[in-house]
Amino acid sequence: MLAELLVYAASYRLTPPAFRRHLGRAVGLWARGQRQTRAWAPHLANSRGLIDTSIDDLASRRTVVVLGSGPLFDLPVESLCRTFRRVILVDRIHLSTIGSRVDRYANVERQWRDLSSTGNPGALDFLDAIEDLDWVISLSLVSQLAEGAPGAERREVDGHLDKLAGLACPATLIADLDYRVFNRHGVVLDSADLLHGRPVPRSGLRWKWEVAPFGEEGRHTRRVHSVAAWPGPIRNRNHPPRFVSVPISARRMKSPSDTMPTSLPPWSTTGSPLTCCCSIILAASVIGVSA
Ligand SMILES: C[S@@+](CC[C@H](N)C(=O)[O-])C[C@H]1O[C@@H](n2cnc3c(N)ncnc32)[C@H](O)[C@@H]1O
Repeated sequence: MLAELLVYAASYRLTPPAFRRHLGRAVGLWARGQRQTRAWAPHLANSRGLIDTSIDDLASRRTVVVLGSGPLFDLPVESLCRTFRRVILVDRIHLSTIGSRVDRYANVERQWRDLSSTGNPGALDFLDAIEDLDWVISLSLVSQLAEGAPGAERREVDGHLDKLAGLACPATLIADLDYRVFNRHGVVLDSADLLHGRPVPRSGLRWKWEVAPFGEEGRHTRRVHSVAAWPGPIRNRNHPPRFVSVPISARRMKSPSDTMPTSLPPWSTTGSPLTCCCSIILAASVIGVSA
């Protein structure tokens, strides 16, 4: 708890006032990541490996934008900084903890932005103004945007994915598709489609992320997310990116991960990865911030 308070305090002054109300939740995510290093390792390795290997497929490496960069758990930011002229990290919170990884690079920039399109349909329009944009990565963000838009979840998901699909440059999407809560007998106690019915094609790589192993959220329950990634850095201008909507006939009532075969990338080490701790909120009493 002391570590959380120190991170909160060190991050407070760096954070523009309008975004400080999100600090508690961001510190909670960071703290869960510290606690769950082992459980999260397969997921983080998948995400980092996917991005790392995708760099090689890009012919031009001027500016890359990472949406939802957060604590950088799942991002090989060093590789991006070494290979791109400019790296722009976008989130509503950039904790002080990322300083040790990025401060040594002069070509990395932090931008504090609310990326939700519900209140601001042009939330991602700043991308259009970056002339030398060569790659956009959306990192475990879209389900968080939906969670933050009660009643308008599907619109939020559509707004984000449609904007990415319409970009002139390649876009890579890593997204939480759904979650399931299991008891110790393996019985599913709860589940939810985190894309709220948005159809996604089969082509993505898929793996599991054990967001909350037994003991994290409940002594006898564990929460597991299904994650999908559409690397997509090579994009044929005649074809849409691989994560755009599929025809209506291919839509499913169930979340795609319930029914589709899983295709694990070669660097996947296990089938038990995990969650977006974004849902973890540091006790408000500790830091005086509600999530
Ligand atoms: C699941 S976390 C992933 C963080 C990061 N990719 C990692 O694992 O280190 C989702 C991120 O989305 C950010 N986020 C959620 N809602 C947002 C919003 N409306 N605008 C900008 N960022 C948002 C959170 O701050 C968080 O860093």
